[in-house]
Amino acid sequence: MREDRPIIALDFPDFETTKVFLEKFPKEEKLYVKIGMELYYACGSQVVTYTKSLGHSVFLDLKLHDIPNTVKSAMTVLRKLGVDMTNVHAAGGVEMMRAARQGFGDEGLLIAVTQLTSTSQEQMQDFQNIQTSLADSVRHYAKKTAEAGLDGVVCSAQEVALIKEATADDFLCLTPGIRPSGAENGDQKRVTTPGQAREIGSDFIVVGRPITQSEDPVAAYQAIKGEWNS
Ligand code: C5P
Repeated sequence: MREDRPIIALDFPDFETTKVFLEKFPKEEKLYVKIGMELYYACGSQVVTYTKSLGHSVFLDLKLHDIPNTVKSAMTVLRKLGVDMTNVHAAGGVEMMRAARQGFGDEGLLIAVTQLTSTSQEQMQDFQNIQTSLADSVRHYAKKTAEAGLDGVVCSAQEVALIKEATADDFLCLTPGIRPSGAENGDQKRVTTPGQAREIGSDFIVVGRPITQSEDPVAAYQAIKGEWNS
C-alpha cells in the first residue's frame, strides 16, 4: 500500500508555529503529517484534534514501549483520538505488540521501530549485548512485528529489501531520512532521494526540514511529492 503523499514531520515546539505552518497550504490540500514527541508533549491531544479537523491524516510518532497492559490502555486512548497511524518499539516484545494492536484496533495502521537508525552495529553489540549484525537484528524484529499482527516498520531505505523479503511484499516500510537531490543533509547521515525511495520499494516517506525549513514549504512539498510519484 503505497501512500502518494510524503508524510511531513511537524517537528515544531508549539501549537502556534504548527498552525502558522499548516495555514500556508491551500485548504483543499489534504496532507499526511507526523506529530512526534516534541509537539505532542508540548500541546497534547489538542494538536491532533486540530490537525484532524483540517482533514489531514496523522501519524502519531510516540514509539510506545512499556508493559503490555499499559501499552494496550494507551493505544485505546490514541484510537479515540482518531490517529491514522502510530507506533511502538518492537523491543517491547510480541506480547506487547499484540496488546498494542488490541488497544488500537484494526482501523488505523500500527507499525514498529526495529533498531533506531541512530544505533550503530557496534553500539547494538556492546550496549544491547545483541551479538549479531544490525541487518540480522532488524530482520528479526521485523519478522516478530509481522507475527504480532502489526502492519509494518519504520526503517532506513537500505533495509526495505531485506524486510520485505523476511516478511511480505505488503508489509509496510516507512522511511525517514529523505532529501531531495541537492538539499542540505542536516544531521541525517545516510540519505535517500524520494525517487530512490520509490525504486527501493518504500511505502511511505517522511520528510521534515526540507519542507518545514524551506522558504516556500508548499513548493518544496509539491516538488518532493512530484519526485516521489514520478
Ligand atoms: O527533518 P528530517 O527530514 O530529518 O526529519 C525526519 C523525521 O523523521 C524526524 O521527525 C525524525 O525524528 C524522524 N526519524 C528519523 N529517523 C528515524 C526515525 C524517525 O529521522 N529512524
